[in-house]
Amino acid sequence: MQMKKYLLLIALLIVLNNMKSNAQQIPTSIKNIPQRVAVILKQMTLDEKIGQMHQLSKDFATGTVSKDQADAEDLVRKGQIGSFLNLASMDLKIKMQTIAVKDTRLKIPLIFGLDVIHGYRTIFPIPLAEAASFDLKAIENAEHIAASEARADGVHWTFAPMMDVGRDPRWGRVMEGSGEDTYLASLIAAARVRGFQGNDLSADNSLVACAKHFAGYGFGEGGREYNSVNISDQRMREVVLPPFKAAVDAGIGTVMNAFQTNNGVPASADKHLVADILKKEWGFKGFVISDWASYRELIFHGVAADEKEAATLALNAAGDMDMEGRIYINGLKKALAEKKVTLAQIDDAVKRILSIKMALGLFDDPFRYLDKAKRDAAMWKPEYIQATRDLARKSMVLLRNENQILPISKNVKTVAIVGPFANAKAEKDYLSFWTFRADQSKVVTLQDGIKNKLPGATILTANALDEHDVMTEASLNEALEKAKQADIVIVALGEHGVNNGEARSFSNLNLPGQQEELLKKIVAVGKPTVAVLFNGRPLTIEWASKNCPAILEAWQPGQEAGNAVADVLFGDYNPAGKLPMSFPVSVGQIPIFYNQLNTGRHWSGKQEDFWFSRYRDVSNDPLYPFGFGLSYTKFDYSDIALNKNSITAKEKLEASITLTNSGNYDGEEVVQLYIRDLVADISRPVKELKGFQKVFLKKGESGKIIFTIGIDDLKYWNNELKYKADKGTFDLMIGTNSMQVKMASFELK
Ligand code: NOJ
Repeated sequence: MQMKKYLLLIALLIVLNNMKSNAQQIPTSIKNIPQRVAVILKQMTLDEKIGQMHQLSKDFATGTVSKDQADAEDLVRKGQIGSFLNLASMDLKIKMQTIAVKDTRLKIPLIFGLDVIHGYRTIFPIPLAEAASFDLKAIENAEHIAASEARADGVHWTFAPMMDVGRDPRWGRVMEGSGEDTYLASLIAAARVRGFQGNDLSADNSLVACAKHFAGYGFGEGGREYNSVNISDQRMREVVLPPFKAAVDAGIGTVMNAFQTNNGVPASADKHLVADILKKEWGFKGFVISDWASYRELIFHGVAADEKEAATLALNAAGDMDMEGRIYINGLKKALAEKKVTLAQIDDAVKRILSIKMALGLFDDPFRYLDKAKRDAAMWKPEYIQATRDLARKSMVLLRNENQILPISKNVKTVAIVGPFANAKAEKDYLSFWTFRADQSKVVTLQDGIKNKLPGATILTANALDEHDVMTEASLNEALEKAKQADIVIVALGEHGVNNGEARSFSNLNLPGQQEELLKKIVAVGKPTVAVLFNGRPLTIEWASKNCPAILEAWQPGQEAGNAVADVLFGDYNPAGKLPMSFPVSVGQIPIFYNQLNTGRHWSGKQEDFWFSRYRDVSNDPLYPFGFGLSYTKFDYSDIALNKNSITAKEKLEASITLTNSGNYDGEEVVQLYIRDLVADISRPVKELKGFQKVFLKKGESGKIIFTIGIDDLKYWNNELKYKADKGTFDLMIGTNSMQVKMASFELK
């Protein structure tokens, strides 16, 4: 009997210990949060509780749900608002916080949220570009800087990072993610969370982060914004969820529901996804917020008849805070009265919200970050400007460099810069979406950057195209004239900043308007010509890829655009960025991504092979594959050496190559490791990224690169949703991009 009790106790200790190690830790130095929250919760009325679950936007209203400011003040006073988003002015933040902590019964502070996506005042490259850097430390640092600036302006919470895997460049929001690969997106998600949140949410340089959009938003049919998706449970586990899990493991404080339906179920009403997986299985301790009115949209999706039903669905799917939808304040009381939801569910939501507010230190000092003098000193510090310039160049991808026309000698006498991004001044150009607090006047245009770099040279600029990307005979002739006078011509093309981001889906991914026509005419002049692209998504640039001698993908590089591009073009920085998304040859190939299945009829590329999985009019290959990017120098890969030919589940395999910089410049290379499981329960991708190392080698230098592979790298979700590894043969590939790799094989025993 005694023995039995003893064993039971041991079993309980083991369970508790496991629970402890699984429990998510949200970083904060504030102590006793659960106890303090419990004391407050006890005193709250039902209306006050529901009030905490309600977030409103100001300065940024939609006709249907936002009311005027007087209404908002009144709601705060009554304790019916827990949070605001988009309160841009500090005066308004002070005003609302004063009402919350002075005029309300329980004096619960408000939490202020904003989309701080790629910088706050110092604007960084778009997140997709940053992903191309494959530099997790630099990305983390960028988010840390954004957090420092935003927090100094009274923002507590950012709706970032977006970790939707994006395989469809028609979707305008690929600019906000980390591209097509789940492994890369997961590492970047965790790095961003660490950058935003630091190790103490109550510190004056951290924001609470928000993992979005939970889940599947990146797979909208046809690449159309807000569109429905159909993702199997297996694919959800394998492709979509890992970045979210990585963010939870990194301690993220909040998660945002996605807008769309998956298999007919709106993400905002998906109990299995949010309540079961996120909160129960992963032990997520923070709170869940809707996307903008996504609880109200449950009515438009046709799964709720009215506000009460929408509130019921959202709360039953573990949604804690309602952004801008007024569904909880209008419908939750009735749902509770009719026993559609329980008070315990409401209490749980409120506890989660108050805990995050407390972790941020808001209960201890709600005005700590609302000080204008401190704020102004916190913005645009010289080291921030340096950091964005540095990350911008790390993000750039050299797509083509025939006859090594790049880098350009700094002794060049005359440079012509033509095209709409030569000296673009339009709002958001070089910056892109999600830059509410940017100052366009701080943007260094390409022309300015090149002038800074070459003070003694003659710089001839011709925009050639108007804001609609249309040229006239006169504007074209001016550009041609300048090109003829120059030693080198830089053609600056791409997407205007207002044309990517949310609600910017496009069905045509060619260079806009007459940009390609301009490029053709300039290339025909016969001068050394470099195209520099400023865009927020892969574009279809087949003609340029064959005819323009050099192409630099600069993305939307942020406020140091011109300086960063000039650093690359004139050789002060040797490009090392790699594409985080495949560039299609044509829109018809989309979705195109490297980690596809083999199919039963894999096409080897021979034109005469007919009955295979292929297009009749275009290759299956992308124009530029995932992981692709050139350097000014040349890297040679040796064959792969394995330290053994087989491993057991407990052993590790070491795969190594010797990398040699055999070119004329010092440089960095992102060495990529891919794996293929040859025989499994379900068909496995032809390649999966499992590791990468960014290495610097001086010219002439060699280095040994070692990857260590264990069973965790070989596991996958099978069709019964078991996470497992299969015994048998695996291909292991190491290379410079997802198509050019060395191969070896090993066994898992
Ligand atoms: C809608 C977007 O989908 C979401 O990502 C963003 O955070 C909210 N609007 C708030 O601006």
